Amino acid sequence: MKNDFYVTTPIYYVNDVPHIGHAYSTVVADVFARYHRLAGDDVFFLTGTDEHGQKVAKAAEDRGLEPQEHVDRMVDPFKDLWRLYSISNDYFIRTTEERHQRVVQEIFQRLYDQGDIYKGTYEGWYCIHEENYWAEGQLVDMNCPDCGRPVKRVTEDSYFLKTSAYVDRLLAYIEANPNFIRPDVRRNEVVSFLKGGVQDVAVSRTAFRWGVPVPFDPEHVVYVWFDALINYLTGVGYITDDERFAAFWPPVHLIGKDILKFHAVIWPTMLMALGLELPKAIIATGFWTLGDQKISKSRGKVVDPIELADELGVDAVRYFLLREMPLGQDGEFTYERLVRRVNDDLANDFGNLIHRTLPMIKKYRNGVVPERPASTERTASLAEAATGIIAEYNENMRAEKPRDALMAVWRLLAAANKFIDFSEPWNLSKAGDTAGLDEVLWGLTETIRLAVLMTYPFMPATGDAAFEQLGFDESPGDKLFGDELVWGRLEGGRQTRPGSPLFPRIELEPKE
Ligand code: MSP
Repeated sequence: MKNDFYVTTPIYYVNDVPHIGHAYSTVVADVFARYHRLAGDDVFFLTGTDEHGQKVAKAAEDRGLEPQEHVDRMVDPFKDLWRLYSISNDYFIRTTEERHQRVVQEIFQRLYDQGDIYKGTYEGWYCIHEENYWAEGQLVDMNCPDCGRPVKRVTEDSYFLKTSAYVDRLLAYIEANPNFIRPDVRRNEVVSFLKGGVQDVAVSRTAFRWGVPVPFDPEHVVYVWFDALINYLTGVGYITDDERFAAFWPPVHLIGKDILKFHAVIWPTMLMALGLELPKAIIATGFWTLGDQKISKSRGKVVDPIELADELGVDAVRYFLLREMPLGQDGEFTYERLVRRVNDDLANDFGNLIHRTLPMIKKYRNGVVPERPASTERTASLAEAATGIIAEYNENMRAEKPRDALMAVWRLLAAANKFIDFSEPWNLSKAGDTAGLDEVLWGLTETIRLAVLMTYPFMPATGDAAFEQLGFDESPGDKLFGDELVWGRLEGGRQTRPGSPLFPRIELEPKE
């Protein structure tokens, strides 16, 4: 069965260059997109940049640039990083692009015409860093309750979105759809927030100009979050490409837990007002921390994803990000942990299996993979393990539990490494047991093929290199799991091409 799968990342503020926390959300979305493509689904994967608002305007001013010039320059580090990190997005949206601004204006106009947006006066506090409004009672020591920075008193005419009118419907929806907001702890957070009473949201500003003008009142620019959330509609063709929109809507949103309320309160309100289906899921991921601090440029705590990739390889970093912390929880980012994962999981468990198997095929069979064996006795337990693990892997990937999926694959690698030890191919060779040796070598190669396919969404470049060494001419990315992710599909007769280690070990040097 063919499904459609539309996955999004948050769009990133272009006030600064990306750090590893930004790379995380995008890599997670990429892994899902790649998995679903291999599973035969139609995929649309969207990422991009959030270029309006006071925070970005201020970053431009600090650099002495016009906002447009600033954002035009700042978008490149994002695009370059995604290329470096093998991100397979289908479109890259910028909120300054003309098409998007038009869609924002049309939506604003429509919600105003139908009475879901009305004019009033906003009195309260604004945090530029979070681009968020706060009531006085929400402030902590008169500072932003989220980031602790000073807030600004704001009194201005503003347009409001009638969020409050949709709260009951939204609560009922969340209760009827337990998988809508994930993980549970985040759903509960949203439910108690909604139950505490929600005010209408100010969706325009007059204090500065860097935003989409309100079409019927150009004194106002559209609030940056109202503008930004609409990227998910523009990017997939709302208003501009009906066919694509119909094929892919609704999306699965991957977001950080810090932007949950915007996605789980304001955004559904906007969609309900537009009469559109709500997202399939809003999955909130946790934070990478250094010590106990969130990695963030403004806190002076950053890990540079380019440096890491140069040193350890993109795939090692991608693997680490997905394997180390369960989706939804926080995790501490340390160089030591990263190196341990590379050495233990990649170099030892995965690399060794490949770099033990290929030399045996070379030594005993001139590098040619034996034909599929008639007997299945020796490989029966490995086949059984593989079949169970494939099912578990698919289940976890479909349930957006990538860490559990990886752990399943590593059980298969462990089983295959043990299989070498107890089947003792060297003794089969000595004893002249040709059929036995063929079966063992074929079984090992088959296990490697399956492990490479399953890890391909996580480590695409490694998957290509591994397939090259196994003697395949195609990329795992050209395969379909329905045909290929099945024990026993490996055909023999292929000339292997052993090469350099796929995962070189890293020597751990003490780091500052
Ligand atoms: N522009 C808004 C999102 C608009 S979406 C319609 C925004 N941008 S951001 O650049 O500040 O952050 C983008 C994402 O990066 C957020 O989801 C945030 O949670 C994530 N991360 C930033 N630092 C992070 C970590 N240290 N760890 C994990 N993710 C983190 O918010």
